[in-house]
Amino acid sequence: MRQMILVGFLQAQNCTNLASSWRHPQSRTDSWSPDFYRHIGRVLEAGKFHLGFFDDRLSMPDMYGRNHAHTVEHGIRCVKLDAVTVLTVMGMATERLGLGATYSTSYYEPFHVARVFATLDLMTGGRAAWNVVTSLNDGEAQNMGRDEVIGHDARYDRADEFMEIVLGHWDTWQDDAIVQDKASGLFARPDKVHRLDYEGRYYRSRGPFTVPRSAQGHPVIIQAGSSGRGKTFGARWGEVIFVVYPNIEVGKHDYAAFKAEVARFNRDPDQVKITHLINTVAAATKNEAEDKWAEIKKLPLEIDALSLLSEALNFDFAKKGMDEPFTDVELDEMSGLQGIRDRVMSVKKTPTVREFIEISGRGRVHNPIVGGSN
Ligand SMILES: Cc1cc2nc3c(=O)[nH]c(=O)nc-3n(C[C@H](O)[C@H](O)[C@H](O)COP(=O)(O)O)c2cc1C
Repeated sequence: MRQMILVGFLQAQNCTNLASSWRHPQSRTDSWSPDFYRHIGRVLEAGKFHLGFFDDRLSMPDMYGRNHAHTVEHGIRCVKLDAVTVLTVMGMATERLGLGATYSTSYYEPFHVARVFATLDLMTGGRAAWNVVTSLNDGEAQNMGRDEVIGHDARYDRADEFMEIVLGHWDTWQDDAIVQDKASGLFARPDKVHRLDYEGRYYRSRGPFTVPRSAQGHPVIIQAGSSGRGKTFGARWGEVIFVVYPNIEVGKHDYAAFKAEVARFNRDPDQVKITHLINTVAAATKNEAEDKWAEIKKLPLEIDALSLLSEALNFDFAKKGMDEPFTDVELDEMSGLQGIRDRVMSVKKTPTVREFIEISGRGRVHNPIVGGSN
C-alpha cells in the first residue's frame, strides 16, 4: 500500500526557511519561546503529520561580505537554537508526532550524538529521528575550532565511520538485557550489554553505551545528500530521505536510481521513504490563498538571497557586481550545496549574480502549491 508521508520542514530560528517571513504582519515575534514550538507541534499533530523536523546550521550567515551586520539587521536566520532542545519541548506538547533534528557529523563526537538521540528517543516514547548532515560552510568550521570546512568527499568518509559507531552503540544493549529483579539483585544481564570497541581511520569509541534501547529500537535516520557521494551515503544509512527534484522526469529517474542503490546495500528499498520538498500556501478558499501568496511574495529583499546563496555555496557573492558574470574558476570555487549551482548552470552556463538569484529562487518561496478547499 502506498502511503503519503507528511513531514513539516521546520527551523528553530527567527524566521522560517523563508528568511523574510519574520516581516509578515501575522508572524509571531516569540520564535525563541517554548510556547511557539509547543504550538507548532500541536498544529502538526492535529494535521496528521508524521514528522516535524528541524534543520540546523552551526553559524550565522556571514559569508556575504564576510560580515554578519546585514544578517542581524535584516533578520536573515541570525537566531539559531539547538534543535534537540527545542524538539524536546515539542515532544512534551505532543503524543504521536515524530520529532527530527539535524546534527552534524563533522563537529560532534559520535558517542555524544548517539547518547543525545537515544535519550531523546526514550524521553519521547520512541519518536526521535536524526537528520545526518556533514555541514558545508567555513563559518560553521570556525565556530567549532577549525579554519575551514573539511573537503566534500572526506566529510562523507568520516561520516560513514561516525554512523558505524552511532548505530553500533545503539545495538549494544540487547532488547532483553534489563531484568530489574529486586529480589535477586540482578539489574541487567552482563552478557547482553556489549562493548563496541570501534577503531576506525578517523574515530575510536569503546563503550559500553550508557543508554538502553528505546521502544522503536533506535531513532530514525534521515538524510538529504544530493551529490553522488552524498546519495551513496544516504542509500547506505538513510531511512527517510529529503530530495528536491527539478522536474518529474529527473525525479522519476533519480528515485529509481536511488532505490536501486539502497538495494545494492542489501537493504529493503520499500523501507526507505523518499520525501520531496514542496511549498504550500493554504487558506480556506483559493481566493484567500492567492491573496496570501501575493502578500508573501512582497516580503523578500535582494540581500536575503545574496546572503543565503553566499552561505549555502560557501562563496562570497559580495565579490561581484550584480550584472557581472561569474568566471568558470569562481563557479568551481563554490564548495557548499553544489546542487544549487549546478541547477543554475543548467539554465545559464556563466550566470551573472542577478541571474543566479533569479534562477536559484533562493530567499523566495519557489513554485508553491496555492490553494484552498474550494
Ligand atoms: C530538505 C533539506 C534539508 C537540509 N537540511 C540541512 C541542514 O539542516 N543542515 C545542513 O548542513 N545541510 C542540510 N541540507 C543539505 C544536505 O545535507 C546536503 O549537504 C546537501 O543536499 C548537499 O548534498 P551533498 O552533501 O551530497 O553535496 C538539507 C538538504 C535538504 C534537501
